Amino acid sequence: MTSEDIVVCMKDISVAYGNFAALYDINVDVNRGDFVGICGPNGSGKTTLLKAIIGLMKPITGALALFGEKIEDNIPKELRYRLAYVPQITDIDRNFPARVIDVVEMGRYAKAGLAKPLKKEDKEKAMDALRLVEMDYMAERPIGHLSGGQQQRVLIAQALASEAEVLLLDEFTSALDIHMTEEVMELLDFLNHTHEITIVTVGHNLEILKAYCNRIICINKIIAFDGSSKDPKLDEVINRVFH
Ligand SMILES: Nc1ncnc2c1ncn2[C@@H]1O[C@H](COP(=O)(O)OP(=O)(O)OP(=O)(O)O)[C@@H](O)[C@H]1O
Ligand SMILES: [Mg+2]
Repeated sequence: MTSEDIVVCMKDISVAYGNFAALYDINVDVNRGDFVGICGPNGSGKTTLLKAIIGLMKPITGALALFGEKIEDNIPKELRYRLAYVPQITDIDRNFPARVIDVVEMGRYAKAGLAKPLKKEDKEKAMDALRLVEMDYMAERPIGHLSGGQQQRVLIAQALASEAEVLLLDEFTSALDIHMTEEVMELLDFLNHTHEITIVTVGHNLEILKAYCNRIICINKIIAFDGSSKDPKLDEVINRVFH
């Protein structure tokens, strides 16, 4: 494995909001091809961890490297667009004036730049991404008219349209019922296996994470567990951290 294949390397990272430390001494390597599930109680720093990876939160100590390149200050654009952050959707305005395809095409602007009109190739890539998540039949519909699970698929398509190699998803399951959650996890599993996309997903349903992820990271300001989802010690750690 080359250092390029360590897509995220966090070394001794601590992150704080003002005087409040949200994460301490985080040491995590995410390898290309990983399907990582991140769990931990409310307020344990899961979202902060994702924000630290994409440069929205700057660590107060420690070092971050992406794709083998040490990040000194801001993440260079050419590295940043290789990562896509899929936020939790709970509140897309029902009247939001964009069609599904418009939302997916926004993923292309990450590369093309906002000022330039999209080329035919960009539009094709957006449509390909929508096809991959099986939402192409919805392309012309207003995004606000879709169900939570369908909107989640569209946001994943937006990330795919940007040709990101790493998807970081924050608790997308909280808006979805168990059936939709499994459907989206199946989609992530498919993207992970057939398109070699590295997945890091925060989730609160541990059974679901264990079923799909090859690796679980349990955090509670520190890393309480980082290992195989089949590790027999995992349940004991989870019980300790959540109680
Ligand atoms: N913008 C902020 N300003 C100050 N403190 C913050 C801010 N964002 C988060 N925190 C604090 O940092 C800690 C970690 O928050 P974070 O959002 O990372 O937790 P989380 O594990 O994602 O929680 P949840 O499961 O509720 O989404 C919490 O104690 C929270 O109150
Ligand atoms: Mg969170």
